[in-house]
Amino acid sequence: MKIVNKVRQMQVLSDKFKKEGKKIAFVPTMGYFHKGHLSLMERGRELADILVISIFVNPIQFGPGEDFMEYPRDLERDLSLAEGVGVDVVFIPEAEEMYPPDYQTYLEVTGLTQHLCGLSRPGHFRGVTTVVAKLFNIVKPDIALFGLKDYQQYIVIKRMVRDLNYDIEVVGCPIIREEDGLAMSSRNTYLTPEQRKSALCLYQGIKLAERLVREGQRDAKIIIKEVIDYIESKPYTQIDYVKICHPETLDDLEYLNDKALLALAVRVGKARLIDNTILEVR
Ligand code: PAF
Repeated sequence: MKIVNKVRQMQVLSDKFKKEGKKIAFVPTMGYFHKGHLSLMERGRELADILVISIFVNPIQFGPGEDFMEYPRDLERDLSLAEGVGVDVVFIPEAEEMYPPDYQTYLEVTGLTQHLCGLSRPGHFRGVTTVVAKLFNIVKPDIALFGLKDYQQYIVIKRMVRDLNYDIEVVGCPIIREEDGLAMSSRNTYLTPEQRKSALCLYQGIKLAERLVREGQRDAKIIIKEVIDYIESKPYTQIDYVKICHPETLDDLEYLNDKALLALAVRVGKARLIDNTILEVR
């Protein structure tokens, strides 16, 4: 497994792979790997000849007062896990390599970012799309893989790829959960044992909504209220949003008549957790 720190070195390496006719799969990450990250890498391994990952805690996608400084990091462990799933190249740039002091260019997807996490984390998606666009230009992948836990990120990036004509296939991979249902996230490490119990309310809220839909409920307001009441009954929780929206436009839906995205963001202690599912009306 090769470790690359410099942008130019990564670009030259990717050009070499391309000249050899090799297909590159790319998994961008902020490190501190869990099974969710590893599942993206495993899928990438299956889909291409070369598997490149990046580890970079991107400062510009964190707002003031957010957890950039505390974001968990363990490079040694990450490298050994990456090696275990057969990663070929790990790109680990320094912040100054990605954003030199005179850096001035940012990229923004407009409409889709005016919903869900875009409202409570202003500037977050601008930071994500800017870094992902840069990483695409550096790694030059044929395929890029993203976890569906960050559903909005996935569709924002798909839109960026479509609007800017990147010749890259964006693949969304299923949410990986702990045995009891909690979606895996690097931020779960912030939870105390008591908060960890409460954190299950996101998954339980999803199960509750699915049951209501199965029983025939189609009114989004009623489903949302039930989920909110359930989450609020758990200690340490503070809801950021519970929304039912169109899975592609992210516009709020009043009634369910086909597929709808149920998306939740809840603070549990100091961890801001997100989860989602597609509710299907049969
Ligand atoms: O999902 C993440 O870990 C990050 O938002 C990403 C895509 C690596 C960009 O920094």
